[in-house]
Formats: sequence, C-alpha cells, structure tokens
Amino acid sequence: MPNKLTLDKSFSLFEEAQRLVPGGVAGIRRPYNFVPGEYPIFFDRAKGSHVIDVDGNEYIDYLCAYGPIIIGYGEDEIDEAVYQQIRQKGFCFSLTQPIQNVLIEKLIEVVPCCEMAAIVKTGSDATTIATRVARAFTGKTKIARCGYHGWHDWCVEVKGGIPPKLYEDIIEFHYNDLDQLESIVKQNATDLAAIIITPVGHPLAHEVEMPKPGYLEGVRRLADEYGVVLIFDEIRSGFRCSIGGAQKYFGVTPDLATIGKAMANGYSISALVGKKDIMSVLADKVFLSSTFFPNSDAQIAALKTIEILQRDNILEAILEKGNYFGRAVEKVVADSGLPVNFSGAPWMPFITFPKDETGLYKKLRNEFYTQLIRRKVFLQPYHHGYICYRHSQEDLDYTVKSIKESLDEIKSLA
Ligand SMILES: Cc1ncc(COP(=O)(O)O)c(C=O)c1O
Repeated sequence: MPNKLTLDKSFSLFEEAQRLVPGGVAGIRRPYNFVPGEYPIFFDRAKGSHVIDVDGNEYIDYLCAYGPIIIGYGEDEIDEAVYQQIRQKGFCFSLTQPIQNVLIEKLIEVVPCCEMAAIVKTGSDATTIATRVARAFTGKTKIARCGYHGWHDWCVEVKGGIPPKLYEDIIEFHYNDLDQLESIVKQNATDLAAIIITPVGHPLAHEVEMPKPGYLEGVRRLADEYGVVLIFDEIRSGFRCSIGGAQKYFGVTPDLATIGKAMANGYSISALVGKKDIMSVLADKVFLSSTFFPNSDAQIAALKTIEILQRDNILEAILEKGNYFGRAVEKVVADSGLPVNFSGAPWMPFITFPKDETGLYKKLRNEFYTQLIRRKVFLQPYHHGYICYRHSQEDLDYTVKSIKESLDEIKSLA
C-alpha cells in the first residue's frame, strides 16, 4: 500500500485561504468533494496530461479542469496564437473585433443546429440565455430540464438565497425515461417553452448514461409534436463526442444548443447556437450583453483549438483511447467481484459504488479513491473524469493497473 502523500503546503495554503475566501476555495473544488486529507487542494502547474501540486506531487490528471482540457494542458500552439493576438492587436475593446464572425462561421460549419450564434463566457451564461431565448420565442414560461446546467437561479441544485418564484416554473425530469417526459410535456403543453437536456446523461454524482436507442429521437419528436423548443446542453459533450458535439454523434439535431468547455482548451468562452428563426429574438426582444463577452483572446483560442481538433483528428484519437481504457477498466471492475460500477466510456469515465443500506459503499468509495490518489491518479469520487488527447498509452495502462491494485486493496473491507 503506497504511503499517504505529502500535502503540507496544500493544507497550509488552504488554512490561509479560509481566512480570505468563504469556504477557502470555490464549490466543487473543496476538499469534501474528494477524500479530505488525502487529496491536494492547490495545483501549481500542468503540462500535457500531468498536473503538479504545490507540494511537488505529479499526477496523471483525468479531471481535465472539469472538461475544458480536450487536447492537453499548456498547448503551445494555442497559447502562442493568443499571445500574438494580445501583442499585435489587443483583445479587450469598446467595439467588437471581426474575429467574432470568423469563429461563428466555423461554428456554423461544424455544429449541425448552428445557423447563428451568440458568444458568451461560461456554461451558465449559455444555458440561461438559452432558456430566455426559448421563452421569448414561444411566449411561454415553463422549462423542462434534465442535467446540471450551472449555478444560475433557475437551475442551481442548492437553493440557498433564491426565491422559489425564480424556479417554480422549472420541471425536472429523469434521463432516459421518455414516458415521464411525455407526461410532463402533455400536462404542461399550453405553457411549456423548452426542454433542456444534456444529450449524454451525467446527473450530479451519478453514473454517466448513454441515450437508450430511440431516446433522443423520442425527445425530438415530443418537442416537435407540442411546439416546444428543444435545447441540448452540450457544455460537456460539445467538441468532445465529435466536432459537432453529441448532436452530430447521435444524429439528433436540437433547435438550440449550448457549447463551451472543450471549445477553447481552457480559455473562457461558451456560446448559444441554433436555428435562425429562434435565435433572431436576440436581435431585438432579448437583451444579452456583458463587458467581457466580446474579448477576442478566447475567440482566438477557440478557433485555434477547433483547427487543431480537425487537423490532427484529435476527437477520433480520444474516442479510440477512451474505448481502449473503457474496455480495460470494465474488465478489471467486473473481475474484482466488488459492488462497483464503471460508466461513461468512452469520453467520461466514472467509477461509482452503488448505495447500500449499511453504508458500506461509502467506506469502499473513500478507500478506493484514497488508494488511487496515493498512486498519483487524479480522479474524483463524485464526478466523472475525462479522456484528453495527451493521455498516453503509458498513462492509460498505468491507470488501469492502479485501479486494479486499488480494488484489490479494498476487498478486505467488503
Ligand atoms: C452540462 C453543463 N451545463 C452547464 C454548466 C455550467 O457551466 P459553468 O460552470 O461554466 O457556468 C456545466 C458545468 O459543469 C455543465 O456541465
């Protein structure tokens, strides 16, 4: 069993941070989302598929900054394109730079539902404006939602500080349950503006789910039948499942889609894309503006990232790596005989421990992820991972071996 990692600097920086920031660090990156005391809290630097914490421990990273890192950390070609823009032209102005049009032409070329686009900064910006556009277009109020859509008032999971009237028109439904959605749509037909769904199911802290055969087609059919705007929240699946996102991969085209994360390999940019007639409400009826939306640094990064994804067949390579890794981990997990699940292959690998009445699953989960982090494999107990292009064969094989060893170590607890 490997020793506990030396994490002294992480812990002392966290103590300092708690005096400076409520909770020390923001939301999902807090220690309770990992195994407290076993995981680092601050990273220092990263390159390719590896990250190094402030104590000098080096890990193979499978969180990929929660999704943006699609190629790898510190991609010189992308950073260089951004530096050049900053040095030669600048990136923050009172008017828009023409690079906006070049980027949107590219989005129109690659994303099936994209006839027009609005560039914003975060995933939450994009999902919120998507719902506003759908409401303005249909003149209706209710939204049916499935998945994590960010931290804004209408959809955040933790309701502190939010008056119920801001989310009382939101109806949640379960992924892959078409009958449930059908009854929601029927019951609310007169006032339902939109269905917003992540085309790959990744509910908070639960197994990742691929769509059952016919499920996304069924969602599309319901939206058409009842005149509801269909929004795919592709913040995780965009520029990951394929260059045109999950909509291209699964062959089902929504009316609107939100994209972000992998679009610029870490630079802050997202977008609402979609059909011209619906998007057109942004021209006059709906207000969308923010100081930093037009900044061109992230637009340049997005264009360069998409260029590399296409030129080097990056997403095909990720699919191959993810399939290889998925098959190997699936076997190790099945051979272990433990109550443990593997889901999310090929793009979003996730090892979960199904709930049991005795609470044993918590012990198994904590000990498994402790074993894994001590082997310098950075995966999170409550969030799926991601495969990026820079994960080498050596990384993947070492990780499979570490997962097997970690499962072996926890057998005595079961
Ligand atoms: C599917 C999905 N939608 C929306 C968001 C919100 O994005 P952001 O955290 O950039 O606001 C996320 C973030 O993880 C996401 O995964």
